[in-house]
Amino acid sequence: MSTLVIIGTQWGDEGKGKVVHFLGKYADYVVRYQGGNNAGHTIIFEGKPFVLHLIPSGIVLPRKMCLIANGVVIDPESLYEEVELLKTKKINIKNRLFVSESAHIILPYHRYLDELREKSRIRIGTTRRGIGPAYADKVVRIGIRVCDFLDKEIFFSLLDNNLKEKDPLLKKLCAPKSIRQNIVRNYEKLKNFLKPLAVDTGILLEKAIRENKNVLFESAQGTLLDLDFGTYPYVTSSNPVAGGVCTGAGVGPTKIDEVIGIVKAYTTRVGGGPFPTELKGKTGEYLWERGLEYGATTGRPRRCGWFDSVIVRHSVRINGIERLALTKLDCLEGMDRLKICVAYKYKNKIIKEFPYSRHVQRDCKPVYIEMEGFKGNIHGMTKYSQLPLNARRYIEKLEELVNAKISIVSLGRTREETIIKDKYFPWIK
Ligand code: IMO
Ligand code: MG
Repeated sequence: MSTLVIIGTQWGDEGKGKVVHFLGKYADYVVRYQGGNNAGHTIIFEGKPFVLHLIPSGIVLPRKMCLIANGVVIDPESLYEEVELLKTKKINIKNRLFVSESAHIILPYHRYLDELREKSRIRIGTTRRGIGPAYADKVVRIGIRVCDFLDKEIFFSLLDNNLKEKDPLLKKLCAPKSIRQNIVRNYEKLKNFLKPLAVDTGILLEKAIRENKNVLFESAQGTLLDLDFGTYPYVTSSNPVAGGVCTGAGVGPTKIDEVIGIVKAYTTRVGGGPFPTELKGKTGEYLWERGLEYGATTGRPRRCGWFDSVIVRHSVRINGIERLALTKLDCLEGMDRLKICVAYKYKNKIIKEFPYSRHVQRDCKPVYIEMEGFKGNIHGMTKYSQLPLNARRYIEKLEELVNAKISIVSLGRTREETIIKDKYFPWIK
């Protein structure tokens, strides 16, 4: 038996979808434990890229059980559409996709409130999917869970209380009455859709672990977008960190065997907020073009920059990561020099650990070391020893700086474009 957590170690978009797809082959269960349809996990299905937002990436692999656990916020309309999309690809979800009855749901007013907040206060640059407002309702204890949604009487009384409370705010953007009408119109369809999927996912997981199944927990977002450990307030409203699995899926810490961090060979960020190693000129554009760095959920161009070992070391520590999967190494090919940020400088002081102060995060300057770049096509390489010497030097320098082993090196989106560097790697024989 083993349970494995896949974590993003930067600001999301590290390539979690690809690694989940790669390791998912060995998994019996794939579980989402936080976030919602703000995620965008790209996988290759029948040769073409395909993006999943809410459903665990394991769904494209036959016979895998896929769970959306209690820590996720579920937009029923979005889930419905994602299932419809899967049907067009002949991917069957029957008896293998389940959602937690205690997960909170996102309703259209959450999306409006997300938009309104983005207009009225510091712009976070959210995905406008209503994630923050839905988690806020959960915390102030006015949220609506899947099991509440399925009980018509309870649902409508909670809905009306919520709409009454939010009325003054919603009026600034739309007619609250029309929101209610819209919810009423879709209610029966969505209720009937959710009903057969809703279970206590914690019990399914307990049974799976007891039966020695392999369980893979798939995080959305990344450690620097974590509500507690990220660049607050420019974060998402949940806890993608490994500890989030315990509360987000109802699994005790003693049942988590391994945490694998996913790390991109450079850094990207979508939306607002500090990004010390951001490159605004030609080098940034080069990475952006090579990496096709567009947000998979919103289509926004991602900001690009050099590898930041300060943030990744922070992630390694917070998540208890021993092994990393390095993605998109191929996108660095052809650059003369590669820079790695090893510390920050703020008011003549050198800062080696991730700073929580907003001022320091915003105004610090990266301290770089430089390495020689590597040239030549590395696609198709399957052994670590085939990589150019300078590419291996870069990888080994990253390992040293972030205090973790790089066990997998990904050179492209497909399963085949993956090098296993570490002799020991969980699940892979
Ligand atoms: P995956 O799983 C990258 C960012 C948004 C915004 C901030 C808050 O694909 O890595 P939210 O809508 O969550 O309230 O927005 O978080 N963000 C992501 N950035 N990848 C993601 O997911 C993200 N999910 C949210 O851009 O800055
Ligand atoms: Mg994304």
